[in-house]
Amino acid sequence: MSYQTEYQSSLQDPEGFWARQAQKLDWYRPADEVLSTDEDGLYRWFKGAMTNTAYLALDYHVENGRADQVAMYYDSPVTQTKAQFSYRQMRDRVAKIAGGLKKLGVCKGDTVIIYMPMIPEAVMSMLACARLGAVHSVVFGGFAPHELAIRIDDARPKVLITASSGIEVDRIIPYKPMVDKAMELAEYKPKKVVIFQRKLGALVPSKDYDVDFEEMEEQAEYVGCTPVYATDPLYILYTSGTTGKPKGVVRDNGGHAVALRYSMEAIYGIKPGDVYWAASDIGWVVGHSYIVYAPLLTGATTVLFEGKPIRTPDASTFWRVISEYQVKVMFTAPTAIRAIRKEDPKGQFIKQYDLSSLKFQFLAGERCDVDTLTWLQGQLGIPVVDHWWQTESGWPMLSNFPGIELLEVKPGSVSKPVAGYDLRILTEAGEESPAGEEGYVAVKLPLPPGCLPTLWNNVEGFKSSYLERFLGYYFSGDGGFKDAEGFTYITGRVDDIINVAGHRLSTVEMEEVVAAHPDVAECAVIGADDSLKGQIPLALVVCHQTGRPFIEVAEEIVASVRSEIGAVAALKKVYQVPRLPKTRSGKILRKLLRAIVNAEELKIPSTIDDPAIVEEINDIVHPSVKQITS
Ligand code: COA
Ligand code: AMP
Repeated sequence: MSYQTEYQSSLQDPEGFWARQAQKLDWYRPADEVLSTDEDGLYRWFKGAMTNTAYLALDYHVENGRADQVAMYYDSPVTQTKAQFSYRQMRDRVAKIAGGLKKLGVCKGDTVIIYMPMIPEAVMSMLACARLGAVHSVVFGGFAPHELAIRIDDARPKVLITASSGIEVDRIIPYKPMVDKAMELAEYKPKKVVIFQRKLGALVPSKDYDVDFEEMEEQAEYVGCTPVYATDPLYILYTSGTTGKPKGVVRDNGGHAVALRYSMEAIYGIKPGDVYWAASDIGWVVGHSYIVYAPLLTGATTVLFEGKPIRTPDASTFWRVISEYQVKVMFTAPTAIRAIRKEDPKGQFIKQYDLSSLKFQFLAGERCDVDTLTWLQGQLGIPVVDHWWQTESGWPMLSNFPGIELLEVKPGSVSKPVAGYDLRILTEAGEESPAGEEGYVAVKLPLPPGCLPTLWNNVEGFKSSYLERFLGYYFSGDGGFKDAEGFTYITGRVDDIINVAGHRLSTVEMEEVVAAHPDVAECAVIGADDSLKGQIPLALVVCHQTGRPFIEVAEEIVASVRSEIGAVAALKKVYQVPRLPKTRSGKILRKLLRAIVNAEELKIPSTIDDPAIVEEINDIVHPSVKQITS
């Protein structure tokens, strides 16, 4: 079948198309309606159907000839550990962990927060929640206690699961003290904290609410899978929005399973038994979808990698993993490739490994520069596919399709819409933009299965964030254009979200922390282009006249962003400026600031209150450029 036929059939008859895809899964009960709307007027897929995602991901394969196939390889260069788990072993451990959680009172519909490093128990905990029909919310380990506390208060988990520590290259990160701090900060108190002891020498303070993970698992009884409705939530994943508060993206059970199962074959060209590796973290959507759920729903083998593309121990580590586990398709962020290329520009490490198993390399999570993509393609000699999606969609929206038809790989483009996504580029007025003209990337409703049906306890926020900008469309927050052949190019966010090393962060959230410093009168946090991380945050601050050296203030600001949001925010540059450029009505001109910081062509709006400030800030942020030109 050609891509075009597949795509057209998904738009002409969405219900028929997705009903056919749903038949590939083993349901407890079929849907009453394939597509319907709920009491809030929001689209829902597979109403009335009953399923269990952990059953589909594990038990189904155990019962259908894959019991002894490896479900997951665990490779941890930071602890020098390797392990593998067959589908049967995974199912058995997940069933006991679920039994342990059940004993702690976790029932269908309850929420559980998982704040863990990249260890097998993290994946098993996610699946154990799914087995019980409980809703997990994984919080990325790079977030600080304050961020964890915000998520505890919003998700109100009965239980929080953590580990004693994580490892960042060679540095032990004690998780438990951060969890205890978050428990103090949060208004809502989970009943129990289950800790997996990694025995890495990290401090593990004990509290009344602590439960030992291994003891819990050992003493537990196996529990079966609780049937849930397709429309019941499987997980909540918090992501940065345009306000200071993260948004709880909800994923349902049925549509999610159907969409991910479809994506593995159609997009990635993965069949049951193949090995697939997404080098991400389970704290991000890529980890949820393509480390945990999609490979297991497909009966493929996934790789859980606890390390970095470089320094664990060097830039060869990705190629070693691919060759050691015979990975067929790999997925990572362009930042990782830029980091590898910096260390190994001639690809000497790549040549040392037999990479013949690798058929396609996928990239996503941030914009991929053409140079990085062509370098990688040249080194690997296979198609490198840049594809585009978001936490909200949960699976790719624009991609190439090795599983159906490999389209021309046009560097710089994220190719064409995936089945089910009626993707349009809209003008400010909501009209369709002509080819070649940049506009807003939107998807005509309904979104296909797998995409967020709503935000956790925030239907109004869902509508205002995504559905109200262009009526009848989901608005992605990204800008882009299509060329004459319909290939799409993403030009970047049109809001205050930035992408730092593939990590999505809100500048507004950082501004709240910077502005809270007593010496700061006002501030703006801007995404600055970075040759390694894509973007890095940079703070411009106007200070009160206190007489304190600015260097001290700047150090305190950096430390507070690190302690309030987390090391992953990577705010390291703070500039003192006399004023911020504003409109006459007092609105900060962020677009102008972005242009100044990134040394782009400056279009100074006529509404600016004080044009002289532009040159002053330019001199502060780019002093060397000034010296050269003057
Ligand atoms: N727990 C605790 N701290 C964490 C963490 C975690 N899970 N993840 C990152 N951090 C810390 C890092 O240690 C670092 O701290 P530092 O400032 O004290 O050095 C900081 O957060 C920034 O981390 P990171 O963005 O990973 O930068 P890095 O300089 O350590 O590594 C890269 C650079 C390019 C190697 C790394 O960013 C990378 O591998 N990027 C790919 C990202 C990716 O796969 N994203 C998933 C989307 S698909
Ligand atoms: P996240 O929700 O963390 O996955 O981040 C989603 C955002 O990352 C998107 O809205 C884009 O801004 C950006 N993004 C993801 N993939 C790509 C890509 N392939 N090209 C350009 N931007 C991307």
